Amino acid sequence: MEERLTIGKPDKDGFLAKLFSPQKRPIIATIVGEGGIGKTSLASYFPAPIFLRTEDGSQAIAGREDVAMFPLCKTVADVMQGLNEILSQPHPFKTLVIDSITQLSNMIESEIVAADPKAKSINQANGGYGAGYATLAAKHGEIRKLCGDINERRGMHVVFIAHAVTERVNPPDVSEYLRYSIRIHKDSIQHYSDNVDLVGFLKLKTYVTEGKASTTDERVLTCYPTPAHIGKNRFGIKQDLPFVEGQNPLGGIL
Ligand SMILES: Nc1ncnc2c1ncn2[C@@H]1O[C@H](COP(=O)(O)OP(=O)(O)OP(=O)(O)O)[C@@H](O)[C@H]1O
Ligand SMILES: [Mg+2]
Repeated sequence: MEERLTIGKPDKDGFLAKLFSPQKRPIIATIVGEGGIGKTSLASYFPAPIFLRTEDGSQAIAGREDVAMFPLCKTVADVMQGLNEILSQPHPFKTLVIDSITQLSNMIESEIVAADPKAKSINQANGGYGAGYATLAAKHGEIRKLCGDINERRGMHVVFIAHAVTERVNPPDVSEYLRYSIRIHKDSIQHYSDNVDLVGFLKLKTYVTEGKASTTDERVLTCYPTPAHIGKNRFGIKQDLPFVEGQNPLGGIL
C-alpha cells in the first residue's frame, strides 16, 4: 500500500521556514558616458552621497555642501581603505559613488605592471598570456564584492561612474556593428554590467528632422539595451529618462 506523506509545519530550521517576499533594496548602478556629459553631476543627486574619487573631476559640483568627498585616491590601497571605512565605520551617507571605475582600472593596471620587473605593459605582466588581465579582473571582482557588502550591510546605493568607448560587436545573426561600452578591459566589464541593477548610458538627446540629426543641450539617460550602447535595468524602464540639472533621473526608483 502507498505510504501517505503527513504534512505538518515546515521544519523550523529549514529554508521553507525562512521564506520572505522580495524586498526593495538600495540600487547598484553603473553610469556610462563620454567626457563632460554630466556623469559626476548625475551621481551627486543620489541621496546623501559620498564620492570615492580616482580622478579629479569635481568642478561641476564645487560648493555643494550636500556632497561629501574623500581626498583624491592616489593608489589602489587608498581605494580599498576608503571602501573598508565606508563598510565598517559610522557615517551618515546613503550613496557611495566611485568616480570613475575607468580611472580606477588604469590605476590597478599600472600597479600590476609596476609590481612585475619583467613587464613593460599589462600584456607582459605576471608571465603574459592574459595573466595580467586576469589579475586586473580579480581585483575588480574584489572591489565589486566589497561594494555589494556596502549595499547590503549598510543599506547604501552604489553608483559606478564609467567612461565610454566604442567597441565592435560581431553577433552570429546580423552583420558587425559598433556600439558604446564601458571603457575598461573586456574581462573586467562583467563586474559592472552583469552584476548590477542598472546600466545607464548618458548622452545628448538627438533629434532627427528632415533626415538630419541634431542635438541640443538636453541630456537623457538610456537604461535599456539598444544596439548603439550597453544598457539594462531591473525596474521595467523602457524609455529614455530626461536628465535636467538639479534632478536625479532615477529618483523614481530609489
Ligand atoms: N543635466 C545637465 N544639463 C546640462 N548641463 C549639464 C547637466 N549636468 C551637468 N551639466 C554640465 O556639464 C558639465 C560637465 O559635468 P560633469 O563634470 O558632471 O560631467 P562628467 O561626465 O562627469 O565629465 P568628465 O567626463 O570630465 O568627468 C558641467 O559644466 C555641468 O554643469
Ligand atoms: Mg566626472
